[in-house]
Amino acid sequence: MDVVVVTGCSRGIGLGLVKQFCQKKVQLVATCRNPSKAPELAKILKDNGQPEALPLDLTSKESVQTLADNIKTKYGKVDILLNNAGLATKNHPHDPPQDLDTLEMMQIFETNVAGTCLVTQTLLPLLKESSNPRVLCISSFLGSISKNTPSETNFYMATSYRCSKSALNQLIRCFALSVPEVTFLSVSPGHVQTDMGNASGRTAPLTVDHVSDKISDLSINMKKEQSGAFMDFNQEIIPY
Ligand SMILES: NC(=O)c1ccc[n+]([C@@H]2O[C@H](COP(=O)([O-])OP(=O)(O)OC[C@H]3O[C@@H](n4cnc5c(N)ncnc54)[C@H](OP(=O)(O)O)[C@@H]3O)[C@@H](O)[C@H]2O)c1
Repeated sequence: MDVVVVTGCSRGIGLGLVKQFCQKKVQLVATCRNPSKAPELAKILKDNGQPEALPLDLTSKESVQTLADNIKTKYGKVDILLNNAGLATKNHPHDPPQDLDTLEMMQIFETNVAGTCLVTQTLLPLLKESSNPRVLCISSFLGSISKNTPSETNFYMATSYRCSKSALNQLIRCFALSVPEVTFLSVSPGHVQTDMGNASGRTAPLTVDHVSDKISDLSINMKKEQSGAFMDFNQEIIPY
C-alpha cells in the first residue's frame, strides 16, 4: 500500500487532500503544525481508520527530522510526498515591490522554498525505498513569470508570494534533474476557496473538494517523463 505524506493538513487544500486520500487505499501520514488545534482533521482521520496526524513545522529542522524518524520506524518508506503547506503575506494578495516588508518576504521564502526543500531532502532516503517515488509540490500560477502581465485574470502584485513560487518551481526542476529516480511535479491548484484564496474579501472560483480530488489523483498517476514540469491539475503545462 502506498505511504502518502501530506503537509499542511490543518485546513484548506491540505484538509481537502486528506478527505480525498481517505477514500483511496493508501496509508496516510497527515501532518500539520499543531495537531491538537486541528479538530476537523482529527475527526476525519479517526472516522476513516487512519492514524492521528503527526506534528510538522516546515521551518524547524528538528520537527522535520522527527517526522522522518517516525515514518522510518512505522513504514520504512514514502511513496508519495505532497508538499502542500504554504504561506502568503498578511495583506495577500496585495504586496507591491516598492512597499513590501523584506522580513516578511524572508518568512515566505523560509516556508515556501527552504521549508519545502528541507522536507523533501530529509524524506529522500525514504522515498528511495519506494518502487515508484513521487513528489508533488503545490505551486501557484502566480509563480509564472511569463504570465505576470496585467492582461491575466487573477492579476495581483503579490510580489513576495510570486517570487517564492517562482523559486519553488526552480527548486523542483533542480530536484528532478539531480534525483532522476524520483518523479517531481510543480502543480498550480488554480484559485481556490480557502483562507488564502479568499483573503482580502475575494471569492475564489474553485472548491477545495474539486481541486483536492484532481490533485490527489494526479499525485498517484504522475509519470516519470513528466518530472520537473510545472502544470495545472488537468496536466496543462504552465509556462515558467
Ligand atoms: N488557495 C489558493 O487559491 C491557492 C492558489 C495557488 C496556490 N495555493 C497553494 O496551495 C497550498 C495550500 O494553500 P491553502 O489555500 O490551503 O492555504 P491555507 O488555507 O492558508 O492553508 C495553509 C496551510 O499551510 C500550513 N502551513 C503554513 N506554514 C506552515 C509551516 N511552517 N509548517 C507547516 N505547515 C504550515 C497551514 O498551517 P496552520 O493552520 O498551522 O497555519 C495550513 O495548513 C499552499 O502552498 C498555497 O500557496 C493556494
